[in-house]
Amino acid sequence: MALNGRLKSRGSRVVAWGHYQPSTTLTNDDLIAAGFDSDDEWIRTRTGITERRVARADESLVDMAEQAARDAIAKSEVPLAEIDLVILATCTAKNPVPIASAQLADRLGIGSPGSYDVNAACAGFTYATSAASDAILCGQARNVLVVGAEKFSDWMDWRDRSTAMIFADGAGAAVLSRSEVPGVGPLVCGSDGFNAQAIRIDPETSMIAQDGQTVYRWATSSMGDVALEVCRRAGVKPDELVVFAPHQANLRIIRSIAARLGAANALVVEDIVTSGNTSAASIPMGLSKLLATHSIAAGLPMLLIGFGAGLTYAGQVVLSP
Ligand SMILES: CC(C)(COP(=O)(O)OP(=O)(O)OC[C@H]1O[C@@H](n2cnc3c(N)ncnc32)[C@H](O)[C@@H]1OP(=O)(O)O)[C@@H](O)C(=O)NCCC(=O)NCCS
Repeated sequence: MALNGRLKSRGSRVVAWGHYQPSTTLTNDDLIAAGFDSDDEWIRTRTGITERRVARADESLVDMAEQAARDAIAKSEVPLAEIDLVILATCTAKNPVPIASAQLADRLGIGSPGSYDVNAACAGFTYATSAASDAILCGQARNVLVVGAEKFSDWMDWRDRSTAMIFADGAGAAVLSRSEVPGVGPLVCGSDGFNAQAIRIDPETSMIAQDGQTVYRWATSSMGDVALEVCRRAGVKPDELVVFAPHQANLRIIRSIAARLGAANALVVEDIVTSGNTSAASIPMGLSKLLATHSIAAGLPMLLIGFGAGLTYAGQVVLSP
């Protein structure tokens, strides 16, 4: 029996990307001047980070999500009334309820869309993009807004040597629409709950904490093969990729995965250098910034891979807008 969906579609694609970063920049030296026990050279060598952005105390996760969403929606030219679903990926909401996505939709003036938050930490955006694509494919939604937004500064111990120089604030967004040509490839995902404690909000302190070496080993030993599998499932050869946008965890991790992938013709997103690690925001934010500064033809394959706390990962190939 063939389903006769009201909004039948052949495929979905990302039609626009957007981003927002708070205006306050903290360099490594700023952190050190404020009492963080480290040095600029050590941080650059181990993480690749030179500076990061931090939101004002009165600037909320939804505030940042709103700015990134407005950027993506304006570029998409999709009328607000035709956005049927809003998905917001985050792991740093101050409270689990009220959910951020419904507040975001209200701020934007989108009628009464479906809305839900996703927490898959640094893989949140790629899981959410897959859910958005599926919602379009099954006829549930015409257009979907997907946002990744994080405010790590609410959860940071600024003296913690394994996290304070890494995590940061920001937001990125994408609008997905129906498309004659499928523009979102199959999701490849998995998890390793045995190592759940490797990145955590400490229940005693409510601060982000991590076992950096466990995360580093997991990411560098397995995400390269995941990247290759995502390409294989999408029917794309690595050297056909025009962009590789991995989660911005750490520059050494990004370069190690890129080396294993061997995408000789791809621009590799390295936004971590000036933005730090913004978890679910890092892929759409880094990609949106790259697309704003490079001229990339429409319809070419770009590889996204999110990975981190959980531990969990998810990735797909999407076509350039
Ligand atoms: C966090 C990370 C940078 C720490 O680097 P590391 O090499 O594992 O550091 P270690 O904890 O083993 O410490 C090594 C040395 O550096 C020192 N050190 C640790 N943190 C430091 C800091 N922030 N500044 C300066 N020195 C530091 C330690 O004291 C230790 O010194 P010693 O050798 O004299 O004892 C690294 O593990 C990492 O990048 N992991 C991945 C984290 C990540 O990407 N998380 C996000 C995933 S989504």
